[in-house]
Amino acid sequence: GAPVEVDISKIEEGQLVRVIWQGKPVWIVRRGEQTLETLNEIGDQLRDPESLEPQQPEYIVNTYRSVKPEIFVAVGLCTHLGCSPTYLPDSFGEQVEGVSSGFFCPCHGSKFDMAGRVFKSVPAPLNLVVPPYTYLNDNRILVG
Ligand code: FES
Repeated sequence: GAPVEVDISKIEEGQLVRVIWQGKPVWIVRRGEQTLETLNEIGDQLRDPESLEPQQPEYIVNTYRSVKPEIFVAVGLCTHLGCSPTYLPDSFGEQVEGVSSGFFCPCHGSKFDMAGRVFKSVPAPLNLVVPPYTYLNDNRILVG
């Protein structure tokens, strides 16, 4: 499939934008300071906090699982059986206490943080996939 260009300049903090790449939903989310801070604090609740499994390109193995911290890009398919998790920007705390936003898969209850890292004790075995992408300039990324 062809790469997909996305204008990220109008994505507001906390907002998630969806595009289709290779027939799959791809999410682009702008994360705020508070969200990034939380990502640094919850490693012990995660199955693969350091992204040791090859679920992302090599150039983005870091806590934020992204090229730039504020912009998160991921394939929006659960690593259990492929449902599309729901983005909960405000009510994720009902799933994981003390964590205000994240992704919840309604099919069998898997939970992922704002870097797509899977929480322990859920059916999904792996972090969400991060697709290859590059910045064309500050405002545009190319997925694929
Ligand atoms: Fe997401 Fe099963 S498909 S938890």
